[in-house]
Amino acid sequence: MKQRENFGSKLGIIMATAGSALGLGNIYRFPCEAGANGGGAFLIVYLAIALVIGTPLMISEFVIGRRSHSNPIGAFRLLSGKRNVWPVVGYLGVLCAFLILAFYTTVAGWTLGYLGKSVANHFAGQDLGQIQAQFTAFTNHPWLPLLCQMLFLAMTAFVVARGVKNGIERWSKILMPMLLVIMVVLCVKSLTLSGAGDGLRFLFRPDFSKIDGHVLISALGQSFFSLSIGMGALITYGSYIGSKDNMTSSAVSVVLADTLVAVLAGVIIFPAAFTFGIQPEAGASLAFTTLPMIFQQMTGGYIFCLLFFLLLVIATLTSTISLLEVIVAALSEELQISRTKAAIVGALGTAVIGLLATLSFRDGSSLLVGGKTVFDLLDHLTASYFMPIGGLLIVLFVGWKMKRADVMDELTNGGSLRAGIRRGIYLIIRYLAPVAIGVIFVSQLVRL
Ligand code: TRP
Repeated sequence: MKQRENFGSKLGIIMATAGSALGLGNIYRFPCEAGANGGGAFLIVYLAIALVIGTPLMISEFVIGRRSHSNPIGAFRLLSGKRNVWPVVGYLGVLCAFLILAFYTTVAGWTLGYLGKSVANHFAGQDLGQIQAQFTAFTNHPWLPLLCQMLFLAMTAFVVARGVKNGIERWSKILMPMLLVIMVVLCVKSLTLSGAGDGLRFLFRPDFSKIDGHVLISALGQSFFSLSIGMGALITYGSYIGSKDNMTSSAVSVVLADTLVAVLAGVIIFPAAFTFGIQPEAGASLAFTTLPMIFQQMTGGYIFCLLFFLLLVIATLTSTISLLEVIVAALSEELQISRTKAAIVGALGTAVIGLLATLSFRDGSSLLVGGKTVFDLLDHLTASYFMPIGGLLIVLFVGWKMKRADVMDELTNGGSLRAGIRRGIYLIIRYLAPVAIGVIFVSQLVRL
């Protein structure tokens, strides 16, 4: 058998995982969800979940991945012994990757379109109404958003076909830190706007009375989405981690970085929204209208706008890569086909559903399933059902099905992690995380 590739270094793992985690989830979806769920109420639940459930779940995925050195389907088969239902979790994960990739590439295509707009200086001198009209015109264009989406999928397939170390790791290492720098600059600018106070109050003042079952499941879905957990992406990346690397500290670094970037995005977008009179509940258009408005107000706005959308495209690309990698690792290892073939099949499969997601944004789109557009349906299905259920099964697997000694072995890297910490993590994985996910999931079903 051909030897599997590994990541080249510990920094490489952190950067590749951070590359997977950081993306539209932070910059586009987080502000959307926070805006729709009351701001501060959402943020506080989100932070608690990222810490208490997100971190142990991420570690659990790494444990499964590195122990098995296999794709999610193979991983559950190898670790659970013959004649077992556990590989179903892997199949669900691969299906989930398809579904996420289908609607994720819709917005990914927009970032590409907006990069083009910023090169062409389309935002200069435009007022809010015109910028909003540009967004509607772009998403309604007969073929442009589709072309952008397909281009994005093709770029993703190209990198994934080239493999883990050369493709994924190298790019993430350089570009993620650059994105952070430019976001800090934007944040400083946004804080000088007249609506800064209102924006910050909206985001940071928790209103506990607003916390209900809906906020809980939205925050859970958002944190799983943002951290790329609950469907096997990090089982796949974990399978490329070398035996000497400390996965626990890598996971903690990634959760912190991801949370920081989401909060930063909020600090950029909400002050701007309040300044320019954009509703925080504006949804899909929120990031794509507030950001060009901020750039308008900045000296050197043209260049910042260009850089920002360039980095956003790249951050998004490192996320789509991790999604397609789940499909490619599974297809190529389970069906014994080449990575290139698997990447092409995966991208084509995604393109078919993805097309429908992109068409959802046409005005008067009649393509509704159960009252929702295809885009909303895919988003809702994956974030509120697939990922919570996947996450629950993953922590149950690590906490109850795998041998305790094996889990400890993975957690400690031969004893480098203090006993108290590793026991604590194990207890959270075994008891706290499954109960918390279960309660939140059920609270959504019974609409508490
Ligand atoms: N986490 C990414 C983001 O925030 C999106 C993403 C990449 C993802 N891989 C994933 C989401 C796997 C869920 C599962 O943009």
